[in-house]
Amino acid sequence: MTQLSPSILAADFARLGEECRQVLDAGADMLHFDVMDGCFVPNISFGVPVLQSLHKALPDAFYDVHLMIRRPLDYVDAFVKAGASCITFHLESESDAGETIDAIHAAGCKAGLSIKPGTPAEAVLPFLDRLDLILVMSVEPGFGGQKFMPGALDKLKTLRAECDARGLSPWLEVDGGVDAVTGPQCVAAGANLLVAGSAVFGKADMAGAVRGLKGL
Ligand code: DX5
Ligand code: ZN
Repeated sequence: MTQLSPSILAADFARLGEECRQVLDAGADMLHFDVMDGCFVPNISFGVPVLQSLHKALPDAFYDVHLMIRRPLDYVDAFVKAGASCITFHLESESDAGETIDAIHAAGCKAGLSIKPGTPAEAVLPFLDRLDLILVMSVEPGFGGQKFMPGALDKLKTLRAECDARGLSPWLEVDGGVDAVTGPQCVAAGANLLVAGSAVFGKADMAGAVRGLKGL
């Protein structure tokens, strides 16, 4: 069954708690929390204090934290303490991937690894057995509302085939430009977790958008 992780990057931050409650009530499985540092990506979003407040307001939600930051290892403990349920970082970051996965697990959190559009799916394979989630970016990370890059589909197929061959069942997540048209293509390629920002929080009928994407 396909799960949905709405990206709060597209939410109205003045009404963040309320909008998150709305999408969760409509059936969203988790909340996607995009952290950007202005270095790893050319944009700055939000960080630890916002997660802390959201977690306090909605303690039962699952927080799917996506770190688009230069040195994720340095921030693992702070995000876990603030309420992260799963921390995904980038293979292209400066932190050692194996060490960062271990640190996330040692802190009692699920660990995910993400690749940008220019990184081949094969780069993830050495870490596959240690991951709870693999995130394939279908846009260059940094901004919401971009166009889906179809190159992500072949990567999803490769990763799904490799997980099946090894008997692994991590979340296979896709992020960027996912909507009612591209979502089904991702699911057909093997994704089981869709991130959607504009296609959920950008809509007047957020609950309807969640139900539509969940039904894919
Ligand atoms: C992009 C972020 C995404 C973004 C997706 O760097 O990682 O999570 O919010 O936004 P949409 O769904 O609008 O492409
Ligand atoms: Zn994201």
